[in-house]
Amino acid sequence: MLESALRYSHKLIREIVNNGDTVVDATMGNGNDTALFASLVGETGCVHAFDVQELAVENTKIRLKEQQLTAQLHLESHENVGNYLQHNLKCAVFNLGYLPKSDKTIITQSESTLKSLKCMLTHLLSGGRILLVLYYGHDGGEQEKEAVLHFARTLPQEEYQVLEYQFINQKNSPPILVCIEKRMKE
Ligand SMILES: C[S@@+](CC[C@H](N)C(=O)[O-])C[C@H]1O[C@@H](n2cnc3c(N)ncnc32)[C@H](O)[C@@H]1O
Repeated sequence: MLESALRYSHKLIREIVNNGDTVVDATMGNGNDTALFASLVGETGCVHAFDVQELAVENTKIRLKEQQLTAQLHLESHENVGNYLQHNLKCAVFNLGYLPKSDKTIITQSESTLKSLKCMLTHLLSGGRILLVLYYGHDGGEQEKEAVLHFARTLPQEEYQVLEYQFINQKNSPPILVCIEKRMKE
């Protein structure tokens, strides 16, 4: 069966993230991606995870403890990601939208999403990937989706390969996966 956008994002992460890598979960939420990253980079790697909600940080702490994993959890906007990175970013993931079963008014915003994305691209290693899973059925979601897609589609093809993945016959705003991969230097 073809995989959902979320599952496919995990496959694209697993393909490239190894022990010792530095990675970023830009939208921690309940910590699914943070835990996946932490399991892949091991004790020698580094996971930075961001969220603006205390609930997200608390839920992620619990999840990591249950799985005996570690990550650096930041209760702040992913706009500040540049404060924590050297030029060795292997992979980053965004799940855009709101935290399910929580306050639906706390949503990712195109301005901060793009600021953070642009910053991460300057730190991305050759062969590294940034994944964005776009949920956009909520108020404000469509505008963010268009802003991200426009930015991603206009990245120079000499430097980046950009993939868009979506089921096109599904109702109710099926999520879109965007993967930006930095080309290897020749
Ligand atoms: C779709 S949820 C993420 C789900 C998460 N990946 C998981 O495993 O549960 C989006 C999250 O982004 C967070 N968020 C919104 N604006 C943010 C910002 N500027 N910086 C970091 N996180 C933000 C929300 O609080 C919410 O928890």
